[in-house]
Amino acid sequence: MTDTLVVVNCGQLVTLAGPRRPRVGAEMRELAIVEGGAMLVRDGLVEKVGRLEEVEPLLGADCEVFDAGGRVVAPGFVDAHAHPVFAGQRADEFEKRAAGVSYQEIAAAGGGIRSTVRRTRAADEEELFEVARRREAWFLRTGTTTVEAKSGYGLSVEDELKMLRVVRRLNSEGRIKYVPTFLGAHEVPDEYRGRREEYVALVVEEMLPRVASEGLAEFCDVFCEERVFTVEDSRRVLEAARAHGLSLRVHADQLTRGGGALLAAELRAKTADHLEHTDAASIAALKAAGVQPVLLPGSVYALGSARYPAARAMIDEGLAVVLATDFNPGSSPTPSMTMVLSLASTHLKMTPAEGLTAATVNAAYSLNRGDELGTLERGKRADFVAHDCEDYRELAYFFGVEHAHAVFVGGRLAFAR
Ligand code: NIG
Ligand code: FE
Repeated sequence: MTDTLVVVNCGQLVTLAGPRRPRVGAEMRELAIVEGGAMLVRDGLVEKVGRLEEVEPLLGADCEVFDAGGRVVAPGFVDAHAHPVFAGQRADEFEKRAAGVSYQEIAAAGGGIRSTVRRTRAADEEELFEVARRREAWFLRTGTTTVEAKSGYGLSVEDELKMLRVVRRLNSEGRIKYVPTFLGAHEVPDEYRGRREEYVALVVEEMLPRVASEGLAEFCDVFCEERVFTVEDSRRVLEAARAHGLSLRVHADQLTRGGGALLAAELRAKTADHLEHTDAASIAALKAAGVQPVLLPGSVYALGSARYPAARAMIDEGLAVVLATDFNPGSSPTPSMTMVLSLASTHLKMTPAEGLTAATVNAAYSLNRGDELGTLERGKRADFVAHDCEDYRELAYFFGVEHAHAVFVGGRLAFAR
């Protein structure tokens, strides 16, 4: 007994069909839209995409039908940089920042990431799972079907493992899919203040071997930043992670140009993320090393900064740009990829088509899932969204609107408005 679904009456079926690799340059503007398209899904995978008359002959009598009602149907968003597991919130700091105190000043005074670490350590696995499940609904209702999930609010062996076990459980019991990233080097915890190198040794010698032996992460990330982890610390962590078989991501050049992007290039990391302060020479190095930039305009916006990354220069250089939310309780408290698309067009000067490519297929490749996700092509997982609009550009244009009308993960309805 097979499980068959046919999607009919799509106004625009945005397939993003194309080369089986991340899209660069002008390719980022090619969405392979089928006007009035239909799609056949069998056993959770896309089987056929085309005009209704091409799909119809394949239909059996027992096939379930989803009528898109003339709406835009597109791949689910792949959010390739997020911190969705944490306890508490930081509305107090948000209010202070509104009064002019900076993110770095708050961090230096013991707040910021360290305040979320205190809350997260105090929560058990069950509580963390429950809060993350509530936030999962926020991602889903904006059309996101895959989320990268970083640890980094535990910062002790047991608390980092706890966070990653929550991610594993979310992935098996949740309605969306998660990709786990170990971020033990997110901040120096309170008990290691002034002993940063000892903390780096803990990450390398104790955390990483446990994370790897329990198969709890696919990626390792580091916050390479002035007053957090130096380039040398970051190199040490990332080289050890690679030796354990993890792929690499780097929080690079976010608040200062600290050399994180050059390190990502040197290590041929999968991604270099943020890049607000990255210069032309570093962009060229990322290109030469095949590193994908992950741009996070939500964090620039929410920090009240005007320093957005140089997306146009990166696209012109031929980099396979990715967009993500950076969802976290401090610098970027939004789960909304459509908000990110709006910011990408207004501040990064990316076209709506470039934005959509960066938020789907390019993001999937950056998570080593380009063969499974990110486009609507035969053999891909049927993660798709019917957006309540008639033109895909409305996703970036009408902002503050939750466009997602119905969200499917693996061919199953996960959210309907
Ligand atoms: O990506 N830069 C470091 N980490 C997060 C912020 C996390 C937090 O403030 O809790 C970021 O911006
Ligand atoms: Fe981040």
